[in-house]
Amino acid sequence: MKKLGVLTSGGDAPGTNACIRAVVRTALGHDLEVVGIRRGYAGLMAGEMEPLDGRFVGGISHRGGTILQTARTEKFKSPSGQQEALRHLEKENIDALVIIGGDGSLKGALRLLEQGFPVSGVPASIDNDIPFTDMALGVDTAMNTAVAAIDQIKDTATSHRRAFLVETMGRDSGYLALMVGMASAAEAIVIPEVATTCEHILALMKDAYSKGKAHFIIIVAEGAKPDCQDIEQYLKARTSELGFGVRKSVLGYIQRGGSPTAFDRLLGTRLGRAAAEQLAQGNTGKMVGLTGNQVVATDLSEVVKGTKQVDLSLYELACMLEQYPAP
Ligand code: ADP
Ligand code: F6P
Repeated sequence: MKKLGVLTSGGDAPGTNACIRAVVRTALGHDLEVVGIRRGYAGLMAGEMEPLDGRFVGGISHRGGTILQTARTEKFKSPSGQQEALRHLEKENIDALVIIGGDGSLKGALRLLEQGFPVSGVPASIDNDIPFTDMALGVDTAMNTAVAAIDQIKDTATSHRRAFLVETMGRDSGYLALMVGMASAAEAIVIPEVATTCEHILALMKDAYSKGKAHFIIIVAEGAKPDCQDIEQYLKARTSELGFGVRKSVLGYIQRGGSPTAFDRLLGTRLGRAAAEQLAQGNTGKMVGLTGNQVVATDLSEVVKGTKQVDLSLYELACMLEQYPAP
């Protein structure tokens, strides 16, 4: 192998720049040329590439987002899109690719592998829904950003004796909501993995009010049913019987941005190095992830088979700590 490419795809995740830096410098250490592909698979299909040197990736580890930019593109899911990408890789004499992204991006990586192109994957998604890694890149930063925001919301909620619905990201996964809810000692957590009702939430709120609580924070995962809007409508129609006033904050994209935590910078560094090392050693088709404190490589074909499940014993723990019955 002479030339390694690197791209970032799907939802951006803090820690990705530290990962790019580690990929580039590991590859340079093996005397490889390195090419950065802009805007994920969209840029790959359009041939948007540039050589990367050690200096290009200096001073980027503390920055959020991805210096290579990212994209979502339906076109790459089709065989013709993939052929277009492979044509550009061949034209530029790129021998292998490190792909940093979420579960969708890793499925894309597997498509390239199936057509004979060597790839190595790094899990990066604030949703933490990718199996075979305890943590994906960006999760720790997103959790910290959300917890800081909820701490601030709690101040105003307490001052006004209000209930707050706080919507977190996570797509179909309740991981972020659950962990953030526990870390911020929220009074209720609503996630897709646990069925609940607006009636149950109302009963919890009435109970909290009768015990003299000054606030009631409900963390709602964006994929939950009922969703944040359903619960808001239901509660607002019952404000007189509630005691608490009700407000809603959707945390949204602030969870994806921002300077990565030390954890994400270190994780990005370790996984980036491992991904490049895999290819330099001639191992292809793996995703490198974190198991315990070890970096472990797993076949991409295994990774894409499923979605990582939330540990429901943690949900029970959250209920126990807040002293309310699970739904
Ligand atoms: P993430 O990687 O963050 O999960 P997406 O699911 O949007 O984000 O995937 C990012 C990109 O990966 C998609 O826009 C598409 O180009 C590519 N991709 C996703 N799923 C597949 C698939 N099944 N086959 C080929 N490419 C895919
Ligand atoms: O996968 C990361 C994520 O932030 C999800 O939590 C969210 O559902 C989705 O991406 C939002 O995607 P987009 O950036 O395309 O709006």
